[in-house]
Amino acid sequence: MSQFKVDVIVGLQSGDEGKGKITHHLLKSGKYTHCVRYNGGGNAGHTIYHNGKKFVTHYIPAGVFFGIKSIIGPGCVVNISKFFQEIRYLNNNGIKTDGLVYIADNAHITMDSHVKEDLKDEEIGTTKTGNGPTYRDKYYRKGYRVQQFDILYPYAIDFYEEFHERKQDIHALFEGAQGFELDIDWGDYPYVTSSHCTTAGALLNGIPPQALDRVWGVAKAYETYVGTKEFEPKEEVFSTLRDLGSEYGATTGRPRQCNWMDINRLKRAVNINGVQSLVINKMDILRELGQWTLRNDNVTVSFTSEKDFKDYIVDQLPNVEIYFSGSPHGFSSTAYNKNKAVA
Ligand code: IMP
Ligand code: MG
Repeated sequence: MSQFKVDVIVGLQSGDEGKGKITHHLLKSGKYTHCVRYNGGGNAGHTIYHNGKKFVTHYIPAGVFFGIKSIIGPGCVVNISKFFQEIRYLNNNGIKTDGLVYIADNAHITMDSHVKEDLKDEEIGTTKTGNGPTYRDKYYRKGYRVQQFDILYPYAIDFYEEFHERKQDIHALFEGAQGFELDIDWGDYPYVTSSHCTTAGALLNGIPPQALDRVWGVAKAYETYVGTKEFEPKEEVFSTLRDLGSEYGATTGRPRQCNWMDINRLKRAVNINGVQSLVINKMDILRELGQWTLRNDNVTVSFTSEKDFKDYIVDQLPNVEIYFSGSPHGFSSTAYNKNKAVA
């Protein structure tokens, strides 16, 4: 019997945790047969460094950088002209997409009218990519699916056939967009996106729970959020943090509001998503800032060293394997161990 295994990458804060980097890093192992995006649409912006070159993608999963089949899943929405624009962008920059890029035939399409409507949003501070109106029409049963568009015919794929009717072994990496704090059910409603940013959201793409092999959660050593709600405390340190971390939106260029990591919220996200491996990105930025601070139940906790900061997080999340990353290019292959760590 052939094997069917799925690993999931899920964002644990408000997006922009560095999921693109983790996807790219994990794909280097060469063990994956597929790379799948499972939620969201043009609102997402994944920043990836490939062979020293920076790429920002919105739709196409990072599998293309490694010649791996890259599929936009049924849980996603796609703007057709933006999709073709991204294919050209990748091709013009030396990345081959021929025969590698597919879209689930039951994924929904973002129409010009959806974008036009989203442009009027003032309440949420959306990315103005038509995401909310597209998902609304999907659930209102007035949406348009990939299978209705001839131009997408060469890219359309049936998820059931691809993942359940093939004889070959499958090990797919499912990469999420946005993050748990923006999830339609679990985020800070209404300051959320319109899709399921959770591990469960990945399974909604036709994946049986038994196929789930490993859940990778991704967080940042501090938090950022883009949108209208007030998120950043009025302290100068967060402007410094924003500049050190280049915290400006990959999709819209908007400045991201910054705050310290909320360890209690992170714990909640880890538990609900069943995170087994956790990567905490941008440790280098806190290092540059020279301040090791986080929040616990709205109490600010500061540490005198990076090691104390790490040990505290590890103590709060005892059942999770944690990797701290201080480089835009990846992370070490061994999880953090308090007792072996050098300060
Ligand atoms: P929408 O997804 O464009 O409707 O935007 C809803 C909320 O989610 C807004 O606060 C956006 O800034 C935020 N958002 C959507 N996608 C992303 C993302 O990929 N990274 C960070 N924030 C996002
Ligand atoms: Mg992003």
